[in-house]
Amino acid sequence: MRAVNLDDTEALRAVDKHGMLKLYLGITDNVAKALRLARELEFPEAVRLGTGEIRYSFPPDGLVVAGMGGSAIGGKLLRDLLWDSSKAPIITCEDYHLPSYIGPRYLLVAISYSGNTEETLSAFVEGLRRKCMTIGISSGGLLDWACRELGLPFVKVPSGFPPRGALPFLFLPLLAVADRAGIADVPLLRQAEGLLRLLGDMARELGPEVPVEENKAKELARTAMGTIPVIYGFGPFCSVALRLKTQFNENSKILSFCNCLPGLDHDEIMGWEGEFTDRFTVIFLRDREEDRQMRLRIEATKELIEEAGPRVVELWARGTNRLEKMFSLIYLGDIASIYLALARGIDPYGLKSIQAVKLKMAEAGLLKELKKEISSLKL
Ligand code: PA5
Repeated sequence: MRAVNLDDTEALRAVDKHGMLKLYLGITDNVAKALRLARELEFPEAVRLGTGEIRYSFPPDGLVVAGMGGSAIGGKLLRDLLWDSSKAPIITCEDYHLPSYIGPRYLLVAISYSGNTEETLSAFVEGLRRKCMTIGISSGGLLDWACRELGLPFVKVPSGFPPRGALPFLFLPLLAVADRAGIADVPLLRQAEGLLRLLGDMARELGPEVPVEENKAKELARTAMGTIPVIYGFGPFCSVALRLKTQFNENSKILSFCNCLPGLDHDEIMGWEGEFTDRFTVIFLRDREEDRQMRLRIEATKELIEEAGPRVVELWARGTNRLEKMFSLIYLGDIASIYLALARGIDPYGLKSIQAVKLKMAEAGLLKELKKEISSLKL
């Protein structure tokens, strides 16, 4: 592995063959486009299928978001965002099957960037069979086809992105869903407009021309270099911690793990008594307004872990509301994970192992079976 100097912009460009840094740094364009798409979302009163009718009647008993990997994180972010204010339960499903209690009074959002992820499509078909109020979000593929064939509400997002780089497109329409379905207590889409300024400011501060000493993303990448990042969140930052972990996995191509306070204080913390602790970088996600109990807990946990010898960093959220705070941390972590890949001389784009498993699974032909089943649901 050759180490690349993070302040050598030419060298960074040479490694970043697919322009991932540029894509991530251009996030505000995509936020603006995604907000426009999200605003257009409309629900029908009913959709008639061969097997009966789906009635869209709000508020639903609950919202289920089905998706995998880069298409799953939006549901978790929404759940955390509305943790203490949601008017209905928000459930995420990363499986072939929906929980048994999901039925016609539930709103099901199936998200698959490619539109061809078998687990998501299987849950989607299951939702249709149970007459859930179903909606799809994707850039194409079978999910796009199915929604058009069956006349289901659908958000078509632009193609050509890696799913993880399409987060604005996969997440912001969920805010429209929550607004329209009467699940949110404040107009979320309007709130999301504040992301444009915040992320724009951050993109300037974290760009390749800004040297390591002044660039928080480069600094984080440099600290994490050669170690396994472990990200600790709490409350709304639990899904944020997961997003950071997955970006270190997918962009930087390294192992990374995450967990949440206060839970980890009751089990995982014991692991810091063991060996190999100096091989990790522990990243605490912080909020200047975290409540007293949480602040005390994070400080106590951090102190104890520091004694075990890993590198320890704190990332402080920015912004004026929870959504902005969550995205400020996500964005910093996303960019840092790209810098870490580049510092390691690795192109952040490719996902060889993910593709290999998908190809192997495709041989079993589940997508063909699901396509047949979708056709049979047609009126
Ligand atoms: O980041 C990725 O590419 C993956 O995590 C994918 O999002 C995941 O495999 C699901 O694919 P899709 O988003 O196309 O449904």
